[in-house]
Amino acid sequence: MANERTLSIIKPDGVKRNLIGRIIGHFEENGLRVAGAQMRLMSRHEAEGFYAVHKERPFFGELIEFMTSGPVLLMVLEGENAVAKNRELMGATNPADAAEGTIRKMYAQSIGENTVHGSDSVENAAIEVNWFFKGNEVYNG
Ligand code: CMP
Repeated sequence: MANERTLSIIKPDGVKRNLIGRIIGHFEENGLRVAGAQMRLMSRHEAEGFYAVHKERPFFGELIEFMTSGPVLLMVLEGENAVAKNRELMGATNPADAAEGTIRKMYAQSIGENTVHGSDSVENAAIEVNWFFKGNEVYNG
């Protein structure tokens, strides 16, 4: 098993509904550590660049509006197999399909407002972490 880093975002709906502590607690209780964190509004430029892979999708405009609608918590999570572990803890993108006990099953309201984001591969995790964090903003556990 590899020690990895992954990008996690608590989206505007999660911040607004006061879920930060419960979500971070769930990560920490399941072997992940917060190695970096920033709470702030994402700019339109940052959101469009971050989600560029989805720019031809019909929901792109809605996605950018939502992700810039309020503060987010950007985090670097670290741990054994952190990329896959984070995705397992989040559950399926659509909360209607998410397994019991996952963050999206517990808290997400819709596929658009689905409370958390997590990198989908080790390669994308490195790209996504670098999109928001400078090297000296991430700490080793
Ligand atoms: P996320 O993991 O942040 O990656 C891309 C996001 O696009 C995804 O979570 C969803 O919030 C959003 N998304 C995916 N499919 C749809 C859809 N059909 N309608 C609205 N938003 C979507």
